[in-house]
Amino acid sequence: MKPDMRLTPPGPAAVEILKRDARVVSQSMAREYPLVLHRAEGVNLWDVDGNRYLDFTAGIAVMNVGWNNPRVIHAVEEQAKLLSHGAFLDFCSEIPVAFAEQLTEFLPEGHNRVYFSNSGAECVEAALKLARYHTKRKYFISFYGGFHGRTYGALSLTASNVIQRKHFGPFLPVIHAPYANPYRPLGRDAATSDVDVIRYIEDHIFRTEVSPEEVAAIVVEPIQGEGGYIVPPLTFLPRLRDICDEYGILLVADEVQSGCFRTGTFLASEHSGVKADIVCLAKAIGGGMPLGVTVARDEIMDWPPGSHASTFGGNNLSCAAGLAVLEILQERGFGEKVLEKGRYLLEGLQRLQQEHDLIGDVRGIGLMCAIELVTKRETKEPACDERGRVIRQAFEQGFTLLPAGASTIRFIPPLTIEKGDIATGLAIVDKALSRCEGR
Ligand SMILES: Cc1ncc(COP(=O)(O)O)c(C=O)c1O
Repeated sequence: MKPDMRLTPPGPAAVEILKRDARVVSQSMAREYPLVLHRAEGVNLWDVDGNRYLDFTAGIAVMNVGWNNPRVIHAVEEQAKLLSHGAFLDFCSEIPVAFAEQLTEFLPEGHNRVYFSNSGAECVEAALKLARYHTKRKYFISFYGGFHGRTYGALSLTASNVIQRKHFGPFLPVIHAPYANPYRPLGRDAATSDVDVIRYIEDHIFRTEVSPEEVAAIVVEPIQGEGGYIVPPLTFLPRLRDICDEYGILLVADEVQSGCFRTGTFLASEHSGVKADIVCLAKAIGGGMPLGVTVARDEIMDWPPGSHASTFGGNNLSCAAGLAVLEILQERGFGEKVLEKGRYLLEGLQRLQQEHDLIGDVRGIGLMCAIELVTKRETKEPACDERGRVIRQAFEQGFTLLPAGASTIRFIPPLTIEKGDIATGLAIVDKALSRCEGR
């Protein structure tokens, strides 16, 4: 369905609510444009002035099964009538247990123990505590450009935008390494971008900053999300796995953004055949309800009763929504369809790259795709202002997009999208890019 713009946003109703928001709500969130939502369905959003948008944000990769999926809504409604807060910390109930059983069916063999929380940051926080508890080591390694959340542990790992860290330190002992970025490699060669990072960890970090015997975990996003939708070479994770195995370090895969079939497989790390020791999932797993999970093998999740918990962890409404999400994701061919639609989107973006010099790079797997804008392809100077203008133009045409990194635009529609809507989105971006280039 094409967008239906009745009033140039923000319309009068939106303006009024934005004024109230500015008076009473913490303004610490960075919003890209003044969209005030009223309702949502499938791949469409409606604002309070009656405009309908085609959405390629999925609420930051949350609504993988589509906005307001009726099966998720039904599951939540039915569960709400029975038991919403089951006080899982103190009492047991079946829904969280059933959810955990189902979830482990999707995960690599052996990932059989689930810790419940309410968000991405919290499930990462749990991974850090678990890694320290299990290894009795203090340090962590994560990556420049990485985003893992904003609580203290998760923020200590995060190094994607300095405003997120400014005046909040000191942090946990985390050492950052460059991420394997083929478009902007550490060394000269895109093909060895991962080898160069591994060399940096072994020759620089382990020799000058921390002994590997003191490192509890390497925490990595299989595809870097907020940092710019960077797809590393498929050999990157296996090489990290090797380092971890050599020094007894745990590998933590933060799949908060890349998980739940966003890339066509349940976990993005499956593309490189790597099994992390601890997997973090949130966002899409709750289908719009707050749910985070940290999953590990039995022998790693060896912390005793009382060592970690949360009042709302294992919430019945979130787990009922999660169960409905898993039911949808396990339908035959779900992942293949995502891959096919992802190829269609990526090819469309590549065609746009041929027509628009602003697009320096096109990348992605499945429906986790992006374009990086540059002022000149030779210098790869990030086109930050242009990126903002393209997103704003698209918004005014009824197409919602989000930025990532310095000058990247991500394309992450609900996974239920049809090719016709992808074509509509591509046409709007084409127009927005042309306007930005003054054509
Ligand atoms: C990879 C990754 N980890 C963790 C988080 C934090 O999630 P939350 O905002 O739910 O705390 C995010 C959020 O964007 C993320 O992309």
